[in-house]
Amino acid sequence: MKTKIIKIDITKPLDEQLEFPVEVIKSGGLVAFPTETVYGLGASALNEDASKNIYKAKGRPSDNPLIIHIDNPIEAEKYCFTNDDYHKIAKNFMPGPITCILKKKNIIPNTITGGLDTVAVRCPENIIANKLIQLCGCPIAAPSANTSGKPSPTKAQHVIDDLYGKIDCIIDGGSCDIGLESTIVKIVDGNCKLLRPGGITINQLTSLFPKIEIDKAVISKLNENEIAEAPGMKYRHYAPKALVNLILKDGTNEQYGRIINYLSKNTQSNNIGVLASDDIVSKFPNLITKSLGPQDDEFEQGRRLFDCLREFDKTNVEMIYVVINQKNNDLGLAIYNRMLKASGFNILKI
Ligand code: TXA
Ligand code: MG
Repeated sequence: MKTKIIKIDITKPLDEQLEFPVEVIKSGGLVAFPTETVYGLGASALNEDASKNIYKAKGRPSDNPLIIHIDNPIEAEKYCFTNDDYHKIAKNFMPGPITCILKKKNIIPNTITGGLDTVAVRCPENIIANKLIQLCGCPIAAPSANTSGKPSPTKAQHVIDDLYGKIDCIIDGGSCDIGLESTIVKIVDGNCKLLRPGGITINQLTSLFPKIEIDKAVISKLNENEIAEAPGMKYRHYAPKALVNLILKDGTNEQYGRIINYLSKNTQSNNIGVLASDDIVSKFPNLITKSLGPQDDEFEQGRRLFDCLREFDKTNVEMIYVVINQKNNDLGLAIYNRMLKASGFNILKI
Protein backbone atom coordinates (compact mmCIF):
# COMPACT_ATOMS: atom_id res chain seq x y z
CA MET A 1 0.00 0.00 0.00
CA LYS A 2 1.21 3.52 -0.77
CA THR A 3 1.30 5.64 2.39
CA LYS A 4 0.81 9.36 1.87
CA ILE A 5 2.70 11.62 4.30
CA ILE A 6 1.23 15.06 4.94
CA LYS A 7 3.25 17.61 6.90
CA ILE A 8 1.16 20.11 8.84
CA ASP A 9 2.44 23.08 10.84
CA ILE A 10 0.63 22.83 14.17
CA THR A 11 0.59 26.60 14.54
CA LYS A 12 -1.54 26.93 11.40
CA PRO A 13 -3.32 23.69 10.46
CA LEU A 14 -5.29 24.27 7.30
CA ASP A 15 -8.60 22.57 6.57
CA GLU A 16 -7.43 21.89 2.98
CA GLN A 17 -4.47 19.88 4.26
CA LEU A 18 -6.86 17.65 6.17
CA GLU A 19 -9.06 16.97 3.10
CA PHE A 20 -7.23 13.77 2.11
CA PRO A 21 -7.05 12.29 5.64
CA VAL A 22 -10.76 13.06 6.17
CA GLU A 23 -11.60 11.33 2.89
CA VAL A 24 -9.55 8.29 3.97
CA ILE A 25 -11.30 8.01 7.35
CA LYS A 26 -14.75 8.47 5.79
CA SER A 27 -14.08 5.72 3.28
CA GLY A 28 -12.91 3.22 5.91
CA GLY A 29 -9.11 3.70 5.70
CA LEU A 30 -6.40 4.27 8.31
CA VAL A 31 -4.72 7.59 9.17
CA ALA A 32 -1.97 8.15 11.76
CA PHE A 33 -2.25 11.56 13.39
CA PRO A 34 -0.52 13.55 16.15
CA THR A 35 -2.10 14.15 19.55
CA GLU A 36 -0.66 15.95 22.60
CA THR A 37 0.19 12.54 24.13
CA VAL A 38 1.42 10.20 21.36
CA TYR A 39 0.55 9.59 17.70
CA GLY A 40 -2.69 7.65 17.16
CA LEU A 41 -3.67 5.22 14.39
CA GLY A 42 -7.19 6.28 13.49
CA ALA A 43 -10.22 4.83 11.75
CA SER A 44 -13.93 5.60 11.94
CA ALA A 45 -15.15 4.22 15.28
CA LEU A 46 -18.52 3.49 13.68
CA ASN A 47 -17.06 1.31 10.91
CA GLU A 48 -16.43 -2.22 12.13
CA ASP A 49 -14.26 -3.31 9.19
CA ALA A 50 -12.07 -0.21 9.47
CA SER A 51 -11.41 -0.86 13.14
CA LYS A 52 -10.50 -4.48 12.35
CA ASN A 53 -7.81 -3.12 10.03
CA ILE A 54 -6.28 -1.17 12.94
CA TYR A 55 -5.67 -4.43 14.80
CA LYS A 56 -4.18 -5.95 11.65
CA ALA A 57 -1.80 -3.06 10.90
CA LYS A 58 -0.52 -2.96 14.49
CA GLY A 59 -0.43 -6.73 15.02
CA ARG A 60 -2.59 -6.10 18.08
CA PRO A 61 -4.56 -8.85 19.89
CA SER A 62 -8.29 -8.38 19.24
CA ASP A 63 -9.14 -8.54 22.98
CA ASN A 64 -7.30 -5.25 23.58
CA PRO A 65 -9.92 -2.50 23.14
CA LEU A 66 -9.49 0.87 21.41
CA ILE A 67 -10.05 4.42 22.67
CA ILE A 68 -12.63 6.47 20.74
CA HIS A 69 -11.66 10.12 20.17
CA ILE A 70 -14.22 12.94 20.10
CA ASP A 71 -13.78 16.63 19.31
CA ASN A 72 -15.94 17.93 22.16
CA PRO A 73 -16.65 16.34 25.58
CA ILE A 74 -20.43 16.62 25.09
CA GLU A 75 -20.22 14.21 22.13
CA ALA A 76 -19.63 11.38 24.63
CA GLU A 77 -23.38 11.21 25.34
CA LYS A 78 -23.90 9.64 21.91
CA TYR A 79 -21.60 6.72 22.54
CA CYS A 80 -21.74 5.93 26.27
CA PHE A 81 -23.69 6.54 29.47
CA THR A 82 -22.05 9.57 31.06
CA ASN A 83 -22.39 10.44 34.77
CA ASP A 84 -21.47 13.21 37.26
CA ASP A 85 -17.88 11.99 37.52
CA TYR A 86 -17.52 12.28 33.74
CA HIS A 87 -18.89 15.82 33.78
CA LYS A 88 -16.44 16.77 36.53
CA ILE A 89 -13.51 15.39 34.55
CA ALA A 90 -14.74 16.99 31.32
CA LYS A 91 -15.10 20.38 32.98
CA ASN A 92 -11.64 20.29 34.55
CA PHE A 93 -9.44 18.37 32.14
CA MET A 94 -10.99 18.17 28.67
CA PRO A 95 -9.90 18.60 26.00
CA GLY A 96 -6.66 17.09 27.27
CA PRO A 97 -4.62 13.97 28.04
CA ILE A 98 -7.28 11.93 29.85
CA THR A 99 -9.45 8.96 28.85
CA CYS A 100 -12.64 7.91 30.66
CA ILE A 101 -14.02 4.38 30.70
CA LEU A 102 -17.83 4.34 30.80
CA LYS A 103 -20.67 1.91 30.00
CA LYS A 104 -21.03 1.79 26.22
CA LYS A 105 -24.06 2.37 24.04
CA ASN A 106 -24.94 -0.06 21.24
CA ILE A 107 -23.83 2.29 18.46
CA ILE A 108 -20.19 1.39 19.26
CA PRO A 109 -19.26 -1.92 17.58
CA ASN A 110 -17.96 -4.74 19.78
CA THR A 111 -14.74 -4.93 17.75
CA ILE A 112 -13.79 -1.53 19.23
CA THR A 113 -14.29 -2.62 22.82
CA GLY A 114 -12.93 -6.14 22.53
CA GLY A 115 -16.35 -7.43 23.58
CA LEU A 116 -16.44 -5.39 26.85
CA ASP A 117 -19.60 -3.53 27.91
CA THR A 118 -17.56 -0.37 28.48
CA VAL A 119 -15.88 2.04 26.07
CA ALA A 120 -12.88 4.35 26.47
CA VAL A 121 -13.52 7.99 25.45
CA ARG A 122 -10.98 10.77 25.00
CA CYS A 123 -11.13 14.34 23.68
CA PRO A 124 -7.67 15.37 22.49
CA GLU A 125 -6.50 18.96 22.73
CA ASN A 126 -4.00 18.84 19.86
CA ILE A 127 -5.46 21.12 17.21
CA ILE A 128 -4.72 18.77 14.29
CA ALA A 129 -6.33 15.80 16.05
CA ASN A 130 -9.31 17.84 17.18
CA LYS A 131 -9.90 19.35 13.75
CA LEU A 132 -9.54 15.98 12.03
CA ILE A 133 -12.27 14.45 14.22
CA GLN A 134 -14.52 17.48 13.70
CA LEU A 135 -14.16 17.37 9.90
CA CYS A 136 -14.75 13.60 9.75
CA GLY A 137 -18.02 14.02 11.63
CA CYS A 138 -17.58 10.71 13.44
CA PRO A 139 -15.63 9.50 16.47
CA ILE A 140 -12.17 8.19 15.60
CA ALA A 141 -11.00 4.92 17.15
CA ALA A 142 -7.26 5.14 17.73
CA PRO A 143 -4.68 3.17 19.65
CA SER A 144 -1.10 4.43 19.72
CA ALA A 145 0.33 4.26 16.17
CA ASN A 146 3.13 1.78 16.88
CA THR A 147 3.60 -1.88 16.11
CA SER A 148 2.07 -3.71 19.07
CA GLY A 149 4.55 -4.03 21.95
CA LYS A 150 6.98 -1.34 20.72
CA PRO A 151 7.42 2.05 22.42
CA SER A 152 4.60 4.46 21.54
CA PRO A 153 5.38 6.94 18.72
CA THR A 154 6.03 10.54 19.71
CA LYS A 155 7.28 11.70 16.27
CA ALA A 156 5.98 11.03 12.74
CA GLN A 157 9.26 9.24 11.96
CA HIS A 158 8.43 6.62 14.63
CA VAL A 159 5.13 5.93 12.84
CA ILE A 160 6.92 5.76 9.48
CA ASP A 161 9.40 3.25 10.97
CA ASP A 162 6.58 0.98 12.17
CA LEU A 163 3.67 1.40 9.76
CA TYR A 164 4.84 2.82 6.41
CA GLY A 165 3.25 0.80 3.61
CA LYS A 166 0.59 -0.64 5.93
CA ILE A 167 -1.70 2.39 6.28
CA ASP A 168 -3.15 5.04 3.95
CA CYS A 169 -1.83 8.24 5.46
CA ILE A 170 0.47 9.71 8.12
CA ILE A 171 -0.01 13.29 9.27
CA ASP A 172 3.33 14.71 10.42
CA GLY A 173 2.52 17.34 13.03
CA GLY A 174 5.89 17.39 14.78
CA SER A 175 6.81 16.04 18.20
CA CYS A 176 4.13 15.31 20.80
CA ASP A 177 4.06 17.77 23.74
CA ILE A 178 3.61 15.21 26.52
CA GLY A 179 5.14 12.08 24.96
CA LEU A 180 3.33 9.66 27.29
CA GLU A 181 -0.13 8.19 26.64
CA SER A 182 -3.24 9.64 28.29
CA THR A 183 -4.27 8.99 31.86
CA ILE A 184 -7.04 6.35 31.95
CA VAL A 185 -9.73 6.39 34.63
CA LYS A 186 -12.64 4.00 34.96
CA ILE A 187 -15.68 5.85 36.31
CA VAL A 188 -18.58 3.42 36.57
CA ASP A 189 -20.84 2.65 39.56
CA GLY A 190 -19.72 5.75 41.50
CA ASN A 191 -16.06 4.63 41.79
CA CYS A 192 -13.08 6.32 40.22
CA LYS A 193 -10.17 4.04 39.48
CA LEU A 194 -6.87 4.96 37.86
CA LEU A 195 -5.95 2.31 35.27
CA ARG A 196 -3.05 4.12 33.58
CA PRO A 197 -1.19 7.20 34.85
CA GLY A 198 -0.45 9.89 32.26
CA GLY A 199 -0.54 13.58 31.42
CA ILE A 200 -3.31 14.41 33.92
CA THR A 201 -1.51 13.46 37.11
CA ILE A 202 -2.70 11.49 40.10
CA ASN A 203 -2.35 14.68 42.17
CA GLN A 204 -4.71 16.53 39.82
CA LEU A 205 -7.21 13.67 40.00
CA THR A 206 -7.05 13.43 43.79
CA SER A 207 -8.16 17.04 44.01
CA LEU A 208 -11.45 15.97 42.37
CA PHE A 209 -11.66 12.40 43.68
CA PRO A 210 -10.07 12.17 47.15
CA LYS A 211 -10.91 8.44 47.32
CA ILE A 212 -9.50 7.51 43.91
CA GLU A 213 -8.25 3.95 43.75
CA ILE A 214 -5.05 3.01 41.91
CA ASP A 215 -5.35 -0.22 39.95
CA LYS A 216 -2.90 -2.87 41.09
CA ALA A 217 -1.46 -3.24 37.56
CA VAL A 218 -0.13 0.36 37.61
CA ILE A 219 2.88 -0.50 39.77
CA SER A 220 2.84 -4.26 40.28
CA LYS A 221 3.04 -7.32 38.12
CA LEU A 222 -0.19 -9.26 37.83
CA ASN A 223 -0.19 -13.00 38.44
CA GLU A 224 -0.95 -15.33 35.53
CA ASN A 225 -4.53 -15.84 36.71
CA GLU A 226 -5.33 -12.16 37.43
CA ILE A 227 -7.44 -10.26 34.90
CA ALA A 228 -6.20 -6.78 33.96
CA GLU A 229 -8.85 -4.08 34.29
CA ALA A 230 -7.36 -2.42 31.17
CA PRO A 231 -6.58 -5.40 28.91
CA GLY A 232 -3.54 -3.59 27.44
CA MET A 233 -1.85 -3.54 30.86
CA LYS A 234 -1.19 -7.27 30.79
CA TYR A 235 1.04 -7.20 27.71
CA ARG A 236 4.77 -6.40 27.81
CA HIS A 237 4.82 -2.88 26.51
CA TYR A 238 7.05 -0.06 25.43
CA ALA A 239 9.81 -2.57 24.97
CA PRO A 240 12.99 -1.84 23.01
CA LYS A 241 14.82 -4.82 21.49
CA ALA A 242 17.39 -4.90 24.30
CA LEU A 243 16.81 -6.29 27.77
CA VAL A 244 15.93 -3.49 30.21
CA ASN A 245 17.28 -3.39 33.78
CA LEU A 246 15.63 -0.84 36.02
CA ILE A 247 17.53 0.93 38.80
CA LEU A 248 15.29 2.98 41.07
CA LYS A 249 16.73 6.10 42.68
CA ASP A 250 15.80 7.02 46.23
CA GLY A 251 17.37 10.45 45.93
CA THR A 252 20.11 10.06 48.55
CA ASN A 253 23.73 11.01 47.80
CA GLU A 254 24.95 7.73 49.20
CA GLN A 255 22.77 5.75 46.79
CA TYR A 256 23.73 8.04 43.90
CA GLY A 257 27.37 7.10 44.54
CA ARG A 258 26.51 3.41 44.60
CA ILE A 259 24.63 3.67 41.29
CA ILE A 260 27.55 5.37 39.54
CA ASN A 261 29.92 2.78 40.99
CA TYR A 262 27.68 -0.11 39.90
CA LEU A 263 27.28 1.22 36.36
CA SER A 264 31.04 1.88 36.02
CA LYS A 265 31.76 -1.75 36.87
CA ASN A 266 28.99 -3.29 34.79
CA THR A 267 28.98 -1.21 31.63
CA GLN A 268 32.42 -1.85 30.11
CA SER A 269 31.17 -3.72 27.07
CA ASN A 270 30.16 -1.75 23.97
CA ASN A 271 26.79 -3.43 23.74
CA ILE A 272 25.48 -2.06 27.00
CA GLY A 273 23.52 1.18 27.23
CA VAL A 274 22.50 3.62 29.95
CA LEU A 275 19.30 5.69 29.98
CA ALA A 276 19.17 8.29 32.75
CA SER A 277 19.14 12.01 33.46
CA ASP A 278 21.96 14.33 32.28
CA ASP A 279 23.94 14.20 35.52
CA ILE A 280 24.28 10.40 35.40
CA VAL A 281 24.90 9.86 31.68
CA SER A 282 27.55 12.60 31.67
CA LYS A 283 29.68 10.30 33.85
CA PHE A 284 29.93 7.75 31.01
CA PRO A 285 31.27 9.56 27.93
CA ASN A 286 32.49 6.30 26.35
CA LEU A 287 29.24 4.37 26.59
CA ILE A 288 26.12 4.31 24.47
CA THR A 289 23.96 6.60 26.59
CA LYS A 290 20.69 8.45 26.01
CA SER A 291 19.73 11.33 28.21
CA LEU A 292 16.26 11.96 29.58
CA GLY A 293 17.18 15.58 30.33
CA PRO A 294 17.66 17.48 33.60
CA GLN A 295 17.10 15.28 36.67
CA ASP A 296 14.30 17.44 38.09
CA ASP A 297 12.41 18.04 34.85
CA GLU A 298 9.75 15.32 34.64
CA PHE A 299 8.06 16.95 31.65
CA GLU A 300 11.22 16.77 29.58
CA GLN A 301 11.84 13.19 30.76
CA GLY A 302 8.32 12.17 29.76
CA ARG A 303 8.70 13.81 26.36
CA ARG A 304 12.00 12.05 25.62
CA LEU A 305 11.36 8.61 27.09
CA PHE A 306 9.94 6.67 24.12
CA ASP A 307 12.22 8.40 21.61
CA CYS A 308 15.26 7.35 23.67
CA LEU A 309 14.07 3.74 23.81
CA ARG A 310 13.60 3.76 20.03
CA GLU A 311 17.06 5.30 19.54
CA PHE A 312 18.57 2.36 21.40
CA ASP A 313 16.97 0.06 18.81
CA LYS A 314 19.21 1.67 16.17
CA THR A 315 22.35 0.64 18.08
CA ASN A 316 23.78 -2.82 18.82
CA VAL A 317 22.99 -2.49 22.52
CA GLU A 318 21.80 -5.75 24.08
CA MET A 319 21.21 -4.57 27.63
CA ILE A 320 20.00 -1.17 28.85
CA TYR A 321 20.32 0.12 32.41
CA VAL A 322 17.55 2.63 33.08
CA VAL A 323 17.92 4.86 36.14
CA ILE A 324 14.75 6.69 37.24
CA ASN A 325 12.91 7.78 40.38
CA GLN A 326 10.42 5.48 42.04
CA LYS A 327 7.53 7.93 42.21
CA ASN A 328 3.93 7.61 43.28
CA ASN A 329 2.87 11.14 42.40
CA ASP A 330 3.03 13.76 39.63
CA LEU A 331 4.18 12.80 36.14
CA GLY A 332 6.87 10.66 37.78
CA LEU A 333 4.25 7.95 38.42
CA ALA A 334 3.56 7.69 34.67
CA ILE A 335 7.28 7.48 33.86
CA TYR A 336 7.81 4.86 36.57
CA ASN A 337 4.81 2.84 35.26
CA ARG A 338 6.09 2.86 31.64
CA MET A 339 9.57 1.80 32.73
CA LEU A 340 8.20 -1.03 34.89
CA LYS A 341 6.40 -2.33 31.79
CA ALA A 342 9.37 -1.80 29.46
CA SER A 343 11.59 -3.78 31.81
CA GLY A 344 9.00 -6.49 32.44
CA PHE A 345 9.31 -5.51 36.17
CA ASN A 346 13.02 -6.34 36.04
CA ILE A 347 14.27 -4.19 38.95
CA LEU A 348 17.92 -4.32 40.09
CA LYS A 349 18.63 -3.91 43.78
CA ILE A 350 22.05 -2.33 44.26
O1 TXA B 1 -2.88 8.97 24.71
C1 TXA B 1 -3.54 8.00 24.36
O2 TXA B 1 -4.40 7.46 25.08
C2 TXA B 1 -3.25 7.44 22.95
C3 TXA B 1 -3.68 8.50 21.93
C4 TXA B 1 -3.56 8.02 20.51
O3 TXA B 1 -4.98 8.92 22.22
N1 TXA B 1 -3.92 6.19 22.74
C5 TXA B 1 -3.53 5.05 23.36
O4 TXA B 1 -4.27 3.93 23.01
O5 TXA B 1 -2.62 4.99 24.16
P1 TXA B 1 -3.78 2.43 23.29
O6 TXA B 1 -4.76 1.58 22.56
O7 TXA B 1 -2.37 2.28 22.94
O8 TXA B 1 -4.02 2.26 24.83
C6 TXA B 1 -5.34 2.21 25.32
C7 TXA B 1 -5.42 1.42 26.58
C8 TXA B 1 -5.14 -0.07 26.39
O9 TXA B 1 -4.37 -0.54 27.49
C9 TXA B 1 -6.55 -0.69 26.46
O10 TXA B 1 -6.53 -2.00 26.98
C10 TXA B 1 -7.28 0.27 27.40
O11 TXA B 1 -6.77 1.53 27.05
N2 TXA B 1 -8.73 0.28 27.17
C11 TXA B 1 -9.40 0.65 26.05
N3 TXA B 1 -10.74 0.46 26.21
C12 TXA B 1 -10.92 -0.02 27.46
C13 TXA B 1 -12.05 -0.43 28.23
N4 TXA B 1 -13.28 -0.38 27.74
N5 TXA B 1 -11.85 -0.90 29.49
C14 TXA B 1 -10.59 -0.95 30.00
N6 TXA B 1 -9.48 -0.58 29.33
C15 TXA B 1 -9.64 -0.13 28.08
MG1 MG C 1 -0.51 1.57 22.93
